[in-house]
Amino acid sequence: MFERIAPRYDLLNRVLALRTDVCWRRRLVAVLDLPAEARVLDLCAGTLDVAAEIRRQRPAACVVGADFARGMLQRGRAKTGLPVAQADALALPFAADAFDAVTVAFGLRNLESPARGLAEIARVLRPGGRVGVLELFRPAGAFARVVHALYNRGFVPLVGRTVSRDPAAYRYLVDSIDAFSSVAEFTALLAQSGFVSVERRSVWPGISSVVVARLP
Ligand SMILES: C[S@@+](CC[C@H](N)C(=O)[O-])C[C@H]1O[C@@H](n2cnc3c(N)ncnc32)[C@H](O)[C@@H]1O
Repeated sequence: MFERIAPRYDLLNRVLALRTDVCWRRRLVAVLDLPAEARVLDLCAGTLDVAAEIRRQRPAACVVGADFARGMLQRGRAKTGLPVAQADALALPFAADAFDAVTVAFGLRNLESPARGLAEIARVLRPGGRVGVLELFRPAGAFARVVHALYNRGFVPLVGRTVSRDPAAYRYLVDSIDAFSSVAEFTALLAQSGFVSVERRSVWPGISSVVVARLP
């Protein structure tokens, strides 16, 4: 599915999020507060928007983007020139302790097992290393649930049909949010996965949040 939507992914992202996704990624990287020469893995990197933002905020950082969809990575590489690795987030081809930080934007929700994804992230992070997750979590409050339902059942399918001509992919987007954790459930999962200092920042109240944590 991600191979299919790759050619129009950036355009769809901007339209669906009314360009606010650019600010969300900026916030994710800012909140991580990376050292100048950090080694960073951007996981489920897609077309490398987060990886590019890391390089913008930390020009001396060593950033690699990993994703299993070759079409996404090719577009990202052409756009940014950054190094990429085609890899499954559940079986990463990197040594233990290889990175100071891992970022995942709108990716964990897609994994067959987010818990296994977090275990793999913990394996490739050095002790004290940080993870930053930007995600559309399942809304918990009643008001957010109503706004979310209107947006997801009205606007997303309309844009999916007209811009991507791939309505199935955009039905998946909506269904995957409904099936994913709330931000509270996700912070609990991070703690169960061995991360500490778990902090969450709402970037679109009730819907999109940045969650950061570190290994002991
Ligand atoms: C919604 S896109 C997000 C892309 C990018 N992080 C962004 O901010 O736009 C989700 C990405 O996760 C990738 N993905 C999903 N499951 C994966 C897995 N098991 N291993 C690696 N990448 C995966 C998809 O190929 C897709 O590029």
